[in-house]
Amino acid sequence: MSKFYLTTPIYYVNAMPHIGHAYTTLAADAIARYYRQKIGEDRVFFLTGTDEHGAKIAEAAERDGKNPKLFCDEIATLFVSTWQRLNISHNHFIRTTDEYHEQGAAEFLRALKVKGALYEGDYAGLYCNGCESFITEKQLREDGLCKDHLRKPERIVEKNWFFKLDKYLPKIQTIIEQGAISVLPEARTEEVLGLFRQGMENFSVSRPNVRWGIPLPWDNAQTMYVWVEALLNYWTAVHKRQMFWPPDLQIIGKDIIKFHCIYWPAMLLAYYDGDAEKIPKTIFAHGFFTVNGQKMSKTLGNVIDPNDLCDRYGRDGARYLILSQFPFGSDGDIEEGKFDEKYNADLANGIGNLVSRVTTLCVKQITDWQKFWKLEEEQEIKGEKQDAKELINNFMLYEMIQSVIQDARLCDEILAKEKPWQYDKQKEQEKITADLAYLISRILSIAKDIAPFLPLTTKTIQKKIDISKKIIEPVTLFPRK
Ligand code: ME8
Ligand code: MG
Repeated sequence: MSKFYLTTPIYYVNAMPHIGHAYTTLAADAIARYYRQKIGEDRVFFLTGTDEHGAKIAEAAERDGKNPKLFCDEIATLFVSTWQRLNISHNHFIRTTDEYHEQGAAEFLRALKVKGALYEGDYAGLYCNGCESFITEKQLREDGLCKDHLRKPERIVEKNWFFKLDKYLPKIQTIIEQGAISVLPEARTEEVLGLFRQGMENFSVSRPNVRWGIPLPWDNAQTMYVWVEALLNYWTAVHKRQMFWPPDLQIIGKDIIKFHCIYWPAMLLAYYDGDAEKIPKTIFAHGFFTVNGQKMSKTLGNVIDPNDLCDRYGRDGARYLILSQFPFGSDGDIEEGKFDEKYNADLANGIGNLVSRVTTLCVKQITDWQKFWKLEEEQEIKGEKQDAKELINNFMLYEMIQSVIQDARLCDEILAKEKPWQYDKQKEQEKITADLAYLISRILSIAKDIAPFLPLTTKTIQKKIDISKKIIEPVTLFPRK
């Protein structure tokens, strides 16, 4: 692999960052960190950002009594600071109100028009501002409300520019069936193919009555439809970094599959004249989680702010609690009341306690340091843990974490069995040295394996168990809650 371009959705700035956004972003971060270790820092480009135009954002700004741009600035700043706090290692943070994005998106659409992929038409139907999407009666609940946003869609009649999706549908379908774009987990491929079977309508690329948007370059009465513009962020962000095109992995939640797996590749096929090398390689749609058994919502008051988790559990603790809940790809539930328990079991009493005990024992019990470091070096597991590659290739982030937690438990068992603290420091130095050298090498490999998930923990361990300086100091990680 010569380069790796990885993206998250760009999040709407109508709400504060919550653990749903953090979940996707952390998963992407772990994968980006893994690939940087594998193929080198410069070859990985990890993009995230915010989606700032459209009726929904304009509405939220108005509710707040703010100018939309200032409103966006405030929330975008919150996303940036939250990602900083969670130690997200994105290479770029895109805002759709950035000038290069506005220009790039306009350039892309103008090209689509020149290529004959757009036409002018009338739309008469329903629109849900919450979804930022045209919807049909069929998609509504019995009482006529949008299933996701529980609001009544607007009935609109307007002139739009449309994209000739019908022209590209057969090709996209083949591409997905044959796996040229892999839509993962596999069940999602089926879901997308189901959408083709249901039939897809051509979609709008512009709207006339939404002022908070990017004007169409050839028709000032219209602004770009916010979803079309948002998808283009993945393209405008690397406009000047062409070596990264196309995206290797796009991580999304399962709520936005249609846009990413159908509209987006179709737009790219139109732009690149059908060149299937220029469309995303893999789209991974992960599951959704509820909090305490219910959908996260302001009204229910169960929205979790990742910053609060950082306050209580530390930055790596928060990363851990968000990522380690259930297999990546599946739906799940997060029980707020179980955070302490999980943190204590896996981190404070798990990795934290193990590392602290072993380093302290080393300092107390080792007298023959030369021998110790020689043995440690011999033990060092060369190369990568066998299953790590397979796990990452299958996006089994949860299993990767579990496997490290399991390693720490095994070390605990060895410690409990060998009891190096009971040996006579003078008479049995050889045995003590061998046991502790073995445990230290296991801890160093745990530190390496957990690096994509708990990067600060890895750093701390590697600083306190410094193999180049041959120094060991007691390490304290993860205070108990
Ligand atoms: O859809 N569980 O933005 P958005 C898991 N701007 N993931 C969750 C989640 C939950 N409960 N809640 C949110 C948009 N997410 C558009 C995207 S991309 C060109 C434009 C995550 O702010 C998940 O990744 O509504 C989901 O797809 C995303 O947040 C939706 O974020
Ligand atoms: Mg949403």
